[in-house]
Amino acid sequence: MAYTVPKLTDYSAAALEHATGECIRSGTAEAASIQNEAELKAFRDRWLARKNGILTQINDSWLKGAPKEAKREAGFRVNELKVRIHELIESTERDYRHRAQIYDRVSSVFVDITLPGIRRPIGAEHPIIRTMNEIVSVFQKLGYSVADGPVVETDYYNFEALNFPPNHPARDTQDTLFIANQQSKPQRERLLLRTHTSPVQIRTMEKMRPPIRIVIPGQVHRNDPPDASHSPMFHQIEGLAVDTNITFGDLKGTLDHAMKALFGSSVKTHFRPSFFPFTEPSAELYVTCFICGGSGKRGSDPCRPCKQTGWIEVLGCGMVDPNVFEFVKDNGYDPKKVSGFAFGMGVDRLALLKYSVDDLQLFFQGDVRFLQQFA
Ligand code: DAH
Repeated sequence: MAYTVPKLTDYSAAALEHATGECIRSGTAEAASIQNEAELKAFRDRWLARKNGILTQINDSWLKGAPKEAKREAGFRVNELKVRIHELIESTERDYRHRAQIYDRVSSVFVDITLPGIRRPIGAEHPIIRTMNEIVSVFQKLGYSVADGPVVETDYYNFEALNFPPNHPARDTQDTLFIANQQSKPQRERLLLRTHTSPVQIRTMEKMRPPIRIVIPGQVHRNDPPDASHSPMFHQIEGLAVDTNITFGDLKGTLDHAMKALFGSSVKTHFRPSFFPFTEPSAELYVTCFICGGSGKRGSDPCRPCKQTGWIEVLGCGMVDPNVFEFVKDNGYDPKKVSGFAFGMGVDRLALLKYSVDDLQLFFQGDVRFLQQFA
């Protein structure tokens, strides 16, 4: 019930006390029921309007209408009432604004289910991962399975079991990043960031008996300062096939097929003798430049990716050295009974060439604008 100002007949302190108490209780109840801006304004006007507002009515009725002897007490009570009603209205306004703000915030965060959803950019497969997947799938179609191993590796798997003896100069070619403070451990247990994916050859042969055919994609690290064609972290794919009677002819046939599947059926392959401690004989595989088609020229300009030679080096390979099999002999890899070939290729440089990117660092900076181009 909306409050109406009663006429007073009794001006005793107790009666005034009761009347002001009733007035404040009604005001407080009215304030609590306010729902919107318009009601807030109506409430304020009803109580404070100079003309015929409740406080004005109270002033006229209770104070001016009071008998002389009650004026003092009535004046005191009415003033007190005015202060309290003003306070009530101010706090009502303050509370209302606060609630309205929260409501705005909540209703803007929470859901209008009729709006379209927030579109999340789903990104794109990273060009290096995509290149890796393509290479892996060529070998999967040949019956190879995928293996992996740790990026933080022991000296044993990264070097020793791959026939890099302790202190052998071939170790120096790998610019190894070692984990600090391991001098107290025997050398073969010391940890390092693997410099190639080849250690997974040994790890897999320890777990699986021959015959095996595996590819091993993964990250490797070397102490190479970053520039347009180097990065301390890069990617390799290793391959290993072990069985009875595997020959260099198998290696050549397999890799020739894989290169044609990757770069187009018109590419030619070319093997040059090389050296790796874990393969004997070893070779580097070149394919005819898939940018210039092997001519060494692009129109009248020299072809830069192949340095005008018409050939691009793609990987290292060779027949698994019997010394490597010795480390896993007990798991069925007797070098007198089995033979195999292995290969290892860098992925990043192939991705650079494939997508005509001129700075390797762009692959690793995580700039969405760069990556979006591959979506
Ligand atoms: N691990 C060698 C490197 O990173 C690449 C390599 C060469 C791997 C010959 C092989 C291989 O499996 O047979 O330089």
